[in-house]
Formats: sequence, C-alpha cells, structure tokens
Amino acid sequence: MTEKIFLSTLCGIKSDKTPIWIMRQAGRYLDEYRAIRATQKDFIAFCLNPEMASAVTLQPIARFGFDAAIIFSDILMIPWAMNRNVRFKTGVGPLLDPMNKPNDLNGNSLAGLLKKLAPVGKAIELTRKSLPKETALIGFSGAPWTLITYMAEGGSSRDFPKARLWAWQDAKALDELLEILIEAIITFLSLQAKAGAECLMLFDSWASAVPAAQREWLVIKPVRAIIEGVRRNGHQQPIIGFPKGLGDGLVQYSVESGVNAIGLDQSVDPVWANHNLPENLPVQGNLDPLALLSAGTKMLRDIDHIIESFQNRPHIFNLGHGITPETPVKSVHTMIDHIRNRQELIK
Ligand code: CP3
Repeated sequence: MTEKIFLSTLCGIKSDKTPIWIMRQAGRYLDEYRAIRATQKDFIAFCLNPEMASAVTLQPIARFGFDAAIIFSDILMIPWAMNRNVRFKTGVGPLLDPMNKPNDLNGNSLAGLLKKLAPVGKAIELTRKSLPKETALIGFSGAPWTLITYMAEGGSSRDFPKARLWAWQDAKALDELLEILIEAIITFLSLQAKAGAECLMLFDSWASAVPAAQREWLVIKPVRAIIEGVRRNGHQQPIIGFPKGLGDGLVQYSVESGVNAIGLDQSVDPVWANHNLPENLPVQGNLDPLALLSAGTKMLRDIDHIIESFQNRPHIFNLGHGITPETPVKSVHTMIDHIRNRQELIK
C-alpha cells in the first residue's frame, strides 16, 4: 500500500486520517506567494517558469503540511497554447480574444501544444524532487465546457450567453470545438502524468451553466472521452472530476464519466451526496471558502458535519471552491488543527 494517504483514499481505502488540501492553496492569501508574484509582471510567463511555479507549489506544503500539492499553473494555459491571446489584467481577471463562432479558431490550434506546455511538465519534475515523501502531486486541466465559456466570451462572464447559445444554435460547430479541446486536454494531462503527476483533476467550474438536457453532451461525455484518451496513452493515475454546480447531475456524472473521485462544491449537501453517490466512490470537499473569513464555531461545526457525513466513505477534505485572497492564514491553521484534533480524540 502506498504511504500517501491522499492516493490510498483516492483508491477507495478509508484511513483514520482524513487527507487535506485546498483549492488555490498556492495563491494570494500567502505573503510568500505575493512576494514571488511581485517579481513577475506577466501571469502566463510566471506559470511557464518551472523554477517559480515549483517554488510556489511547495509554499503551502511547507507552511501547512497538506497531504497533496497541486502544480501551479492555470486552466487557461490550454487556450493560451491554442493562440487565444490569453492575458491577465490585475483587478479585471483573464482576457482572451473572444470567438465569434465555435469554429473561429485560427489554423491548427493543436500544433505545437506539447512544446508550448512543456514547462508545466518541467515544473512537475522539479516539484516531485522536493516534495516530502508523504505528499502527492496533482496535475490538472480545465474541462472543455469551462474552457469554452472563457474562449467564447473572451474572459469571465456571469451568464455565459455565447457558449450557451452556441449549444442551441450551432451544435455541429460546437461539437467540433469540443473534439479539439478533448484532444488538447488529453495531450496536456498525459504530459503532466508522464512528468510525474500522481493524480489528475478536471475543473469544470461553470458546469452550473449547462441546462440539464445538455449535461450529458457538454459535461459528462467529454470527460469520459478525456479519461479514455489518458488511459489509452498508458496513464493510470486516479482522476478527480469537479463539475461545480452540477447539482443532482452529480449522480449521472459519477456513474458515467469514468472519474475515480468527485469534487463537491459547497452547495452540495454532504448527507445527500453520501446517500446518492455510488457506494465507496471517493469524494472531495466541501467547506465554503468564506467560512474561513470568520473561522469561528460555526465553521468548526460545519467541518464536523462534513466529516461525519462521509465517515463511511473515502473522503478528502477540501474547500468547495478556491480559497479567497482575503483569507487569514491563521484560519487555515484553525481548520487543519480542528480536523487533526478530531482524529486524535477518536483514536
Ligand atoms: O494552488 C492551486 O490551486 C493551483 C493553481 C491554480 C490557479 N488557477 C492559479 C491562479 C489552479 C488549480 C487554477 C484553476 C483555475 N483557473 C480555475 C478553476 C478553478 C476555479 O477557481 O473555478 C479557473 C476558473 C481559472 C481561471 C482564472 N485564473 C481566473 C478567473 C483568474 C483570475 C481571477 C482571480 O482570482 O484573480 C485566474 C488567475 C489565477 N490563477 C491566480 C492564481 C493563484 C491569481 C492571479 C495572480 O496571482 O495574479
């Protein structure tokens, strides 16, 4: 058996210690992240600098001893590598060249992908060399639908009207774009697996925007095709799906997408999830990131509730979404200490 409890939990083995990590754990709530970030004007160049990406990946491990590290990169690295002119503007967020139609890509956007994203593999290799032996390393990608929302609108959006309209009005061209992104994601995840990522995660942050009747088409089937592709390439790492806001669609997603574990956002009732998701499917989540801003007894009770709801199923503790830049570091310690102290009490 592996000595990494994050990986054994993903393989379906429940241990008496709940593994912990948090989404966006390398980020602006850490002084040491902001210090390195301040030396780099361009966020993409920062992600593509293997030494710096590796250094910030290791920061939250050194500070908190999380059971998993996630390689520092971004889901928009694929659109960047597909020549969508991705840049990040402070105070605004990501900006891309918007697409007019789903097939509005200039040229063969898959050409050169491996070469352009190679620095992420290099960062993974460097990080593996420095991680404690009990800490697992996660590689990741955005899922096709979420990438399409950014590529269509040219940035963040509240309602994603373009991508949603394409699904009704331009289904054939949207299918072609899905196929291209599935290929790109298989390539990117395989690169990360080959470089030493021990687990892969697919972020579908805006699965919430997909109508129920289109879930299978836009969310579930693409994930299944990606997992089949990664497996065809010979990579057996466990894959976590995170279809944020999918609601009752989580059941079909768990059964049909082929993921080895499922990430739950904070809107999912853990009692419901435990009752309705396939027996023994590992789950990850799902404390509201904003609970950390007060970090009082209400947060501690909710942590207890989440852990108790999943006491008979493999569970990785995480937030329901990324930690916010305003979070006091002390609150993260409070959260971790509470989880670890519970386990001491139970023993
Ligand atoms: O520590 C980690 O979790 C690993 C690194 C990571 C980042 N982004 C670094 C980052 C991961 C896993 C992501 C995923 C990501 N990126 C998602 C999916 C998860 C989610 O949050 O739903 C999405 C939608 C993105 C796209 C993205 N990247 C946006 C919208 C923004 C700007 C918004 C903001 O918070 O400023 C980013 C920038 C970004 N990616 C930052 C970090 C630490 C902050 C920018 C900075 O440091 O200047």
